[in-house]
Amino acid sequence: MKKIIALTGAGISAESGISTFRDSDGLWKKYRFEEVASPMAWERDPELVLEFYNQRRKQLFEVEPNAGHDALVKLEDKYDVQIITQNVDDLHERAGSSNILHLHGELKKARSTADPNLVYELDHWELKMGDKCEKGSQLRPHVVWFGEMVPNIEPAMEISSQADIYLIIGTSLNVYPAAGLVDFAPARAPKYLIDPKANRTAGFSNVTIIEKKASEGVPELVDQLLKDA
Ligand code: APR
Repeated sequence: MKKIIALTGAGISAESGISTFRDSDGLWKKYRFEEVASPMAWERDPELVLEFYNQRRKQLFEVEPNAGHDALVKLEDKYDVQIITQNVDDLHERAGSSNILHLHGELKKARSTADPNLVYELDHWELKMGDKCEKGSQLRPHVVWFGEMVPNIEPAMEISSQADIYLIIGTSLNVYPAAGLVDFAPARAPKYLIDPKANRTAGFSNVTIIEKKASEGVPELVDQLLKDA
C-alpha cells in the first residue's frame, strides 16, 4: 500500500466549531499566548492557564468530527495513512483514524509537573489547582507550550520522509518545527494543500493547492485518490 501522510492543523477542526489560532476570530486574537500557553504563564498564573485549557476541553465534549476528519478515515481503505496533527483535540481519534501522532500534545490528557512521563487521561473537562499526580505534584495540561520541546518531532520527520503522497490540511504553517515537516517529504511525492485561504506561495515544489474548506476539499481529494489507487 502507498503511504499517505496528512499534516493537519486547526483548520481541519474549524467546521466542527473549534476556533483556529490565527484567523480573524482565532484564539490568539482573544488571548495573548504568552499569558496562557507558555512556561512563564504557568509560573505567573497557573489558574489562568488551567482555565484557558478547561474552556477548550469543555468544548470538546460538545463538538463532533466533520467530513474532513471522516474522509481521512475512508482513505485507509486503500492507503497506509499516517496523521501528524498539530491539534490537541481528539477529533481524528473520534472519527476513527488508525495512526495519529500528536505534535503539540492532547487536551484530554494531563501530566505531572514533577515527572513528564506520568501522563493521565482526563474523562472530565476541569483540571484544577490541587489535582495531583501519584507523586503528589500538581497536574498540568499535556500540551506543548511555546518555548517547549516538541517530543514527537523526530518520529514525525521520519514518517514524513516515507511519504508517497503528502497532504497539508488547515494549517498556516506558521509554527516550527511542525511547519518544516513538509521539507522532509521526498521531492517526488505529490503534495496537496487544502485551505480556503491558502498561501499561494506554499514554499515547496510539486504542490497542488486546493482553496476549499476541509469538509469539502478533503472528501473530494480522497475520492480522487481512492480512484487513482
Ligand atoms: N478548512 C480548512 N482550513 C481552514 C478552515 C477550514 N474550514 N478554516 C481556516 N482554515 C485555515 C486557515 O486559513 C489557516 O491557514 O486553517 C489555518 C489555521 O492556521 P492557524 O490558526 O495558524 O492554526 P495552525 O496552523 O494549526 O497553528 C499551528 O500554532 O498556536 C500554535 O500550537 C498551536 O498547533 C497550533 C500551531
